[in-house]
Amino acid sequence: MVLKTEQLTKTYTVGQEQVHALRGVDFQADPGDFIVINGPSGSGKTTFLNLVACIDQPTAGEVLIEGQPISGLSQSELANLRRDKIGLMFQSFNLIPVLTAFENIEYPLLLKGVPKAVRREKVLSLLEEVGLLKEAHRRPDQLSGGQKQRVALARTLVNDPKLVLADEPTGNLDSKTSERVMAMIQRLNQNHGVTFLVVTHDPMVNHYADRLVLIRDGQLSETDQPATFKADLNGNQREDEEYVVSNRAS
Ligand SMILES: Nc1ncnc2c1ncn2[C@@H]1O[C@H](COP(=O)(O)OP(=O)(O)O)[C@@H](O)[C@H]1O
Ligand SMILES: [Mg+2]
Repeated sequence: MVLKTEQLTKTYTVGQEQVHALRGVDFQADPGDFIVINGPSGSGKTTFLNLVACIDQPTAGEVLIEGQPISGLSQSELANLRRDKIGLMFQSFNLIPVLTAFENIEYPLLLKGVPKAVRREKVLSLLEEVGLLKEAHRRPDQLSGGQKQRVALARTLVNDPKLVLADEPTGNLDSKTSERVMAMIQRLNQNHGVTFLVVTHDPMVNHYADRLVLIRDGQLSETDQPATFKADLNGNQREDEEYVVSNRAS
């Protein structure tokens, strides 16, 4: 098991009000899983991902990475765990603007003190996998949105993480580019055997899931979606939900 959460709870206090962003989430992800968590804006997706990524602290409950509870770890232990085991992708790509595609992917290896020749081989191999060898020396402002997200994808994998967490990775992409990026994420999930956990409100993304989980008001519910589930690519979220509901009922 790569990831487990036990009764994971996050409550924000805003003035006098309490916002129950996560309400006791029990969740588990296994090696190589491709999991999509789909839910509307405000349902708790980013909160969940940030807790799992050890970026934020829960109000209650526990996150376990490869069986290890993170609550007892020091700041430096947490930083190492994040660096060695977790890759992150965001809607806004989060590339470093002054670095080329090559250098952005290389950066985590630099931080780790990996020798230059090893870095070069690794980065070139990933650039090839995401189809960007020719763009290696371009900076982010010289890349399209889809290309930027492919650089970000390569960067998440450069440290051989156990788990890649992606927060709305298609959120800034048009639908055709979104499909291409998701197909590429799916292929790299299979090639590298890395667990991917993608949170999104985009129903198109559901199509790529081996396991589809819904999130509503801070609670997760598993669907019985088999790997063969095909979302209606032209459909909207409501149609997806109807499919899920009728599938569960049968
Ligand atoms: N830092 C914060 N302070 C207060 N409320 C927050 C904070 N972050 C998120 N929330 C609230 O928690 C709920 C879940 O938010 P979020 O996890 O960002 O949802 P999503 O990513 O699904 O849109 C929302 O009601 C949101 O307004
Ligand atoms: Mg969010």
